[in-house]
Amino acid sequence: MSTNLLKGKRGIIFGALDENSIAWITAERVHEEGGSFVLSNAPVAMRMGQINELAKKTNSEVIAADATSLEDLENLVAESMKILGGKLDFILHSIGMSINVRKGREYTDQKYEWTQKGTDVSAMSFHKVMQTLYKQDAMNEWGSIVALTYMAAQRVFPDYNDMADNKAYLESIARSFGYFFGKDKKVRVNTISQSPTPTTAGMGVKGFDSFITYAEKMSPLGNATALDCANYTITLFSDLTKRVTLQNLYNDGGFSNMGVSDAIIDDISE
Ligand SMILES: NC(=O)c1ccc[n+]([C@@H]2O[C@H](COP(=O)([O-])OP(=O)(O)OC[C@H]3O[C@@H](n4cnc5c(N)ncnc54)[C@H](O)[C@@H]3O)[C@@H](O)[C@H]2O)c1
Repeated sequence: MSTNLLKGKRGIIFGALDENSIAWITAERVHEEGGSFVLSNAPVAMRMGQINELAKKTNSEVIAADATSLEDLENLVAESMKILGGKLDFILHSIGMSINVRKGREYTDQKYEWTQKGTDVSAMSFHKVMQTLYKQDAMNEWGSIVALTYMAAQRVFPDYNDMADNKAYLESIARSFGYFFGKDKKVRVNTISQSPTPTTAGMGVKGFDSFITYAEKMSPLGNATALDCANYTITLFSDLTKRVTLQNLYNDGGFSNMGVSDAIIDDISE
């Protein structure tokens, strides 16, 4: 259902890999709400070709950019303003990757080149995206920048591995850059801390199935879906949340404030 909350707004959506991606579902919702955007993903992700389907469906263009490359990002931001016809109102950073996770390397046995690559892709890329936008003065006043994160930044989830540290770094960048973006350009910067969600990145975490069931049983409202995340992001892109900034916002059915639930106690008592 559309209420045209984003009518006339322009932006960039990073990270739509396939139809399960949180960015994919967010792009569909932004389109429904009247927003226009450029889709971007890493050149290697483009080869899978699915993003073109989304582009067609949402009447948008695709520009490849490795989010760790300043040159790619500079081109992306400049081209997006040309394509969309002006400065930008919203950005979704929906990017994450850990080679240690992908290759099953434990937290206590890191291969540091992989750790560094993961940090660059999953966290520092957010700084690079914002610095590029800031330097090109590419955001309209009262624009909104959102990145996606996970609660392993605050609490221990052993199998989340080095992504936990990357998310802590990402959330810190949101606050630190959000200060400058707020003060200098009246732009807000927030992170949404999302429930475990069955996507390519999510399912790469060891024991994901048990983990998502556990979170479901712990959360009074159940796990937030990718669509729930998309809808929350829409509110943050809209003018209804103009002075929400520097926040890490939980979209997790209540999980983050739970100690234990009856459902978990019942399971253990069996
Ligand atoms: N799925 C979950 O359980 C969950 C929970 C909380 C937060 N998140 C976060 O949500 C975000 C989106 O992930 P998702 O779950 O939709 O999975 P996804 O695998 O669909 O998306 C991850 C995206 O990152 C992109 N990417 C990787 N390297 C890149 C690079 N160098 N440059 C540009 N893009 C690159 C991938 O191509 C992919 O599109 C990530 O930040 C993830 O950590 C996911």
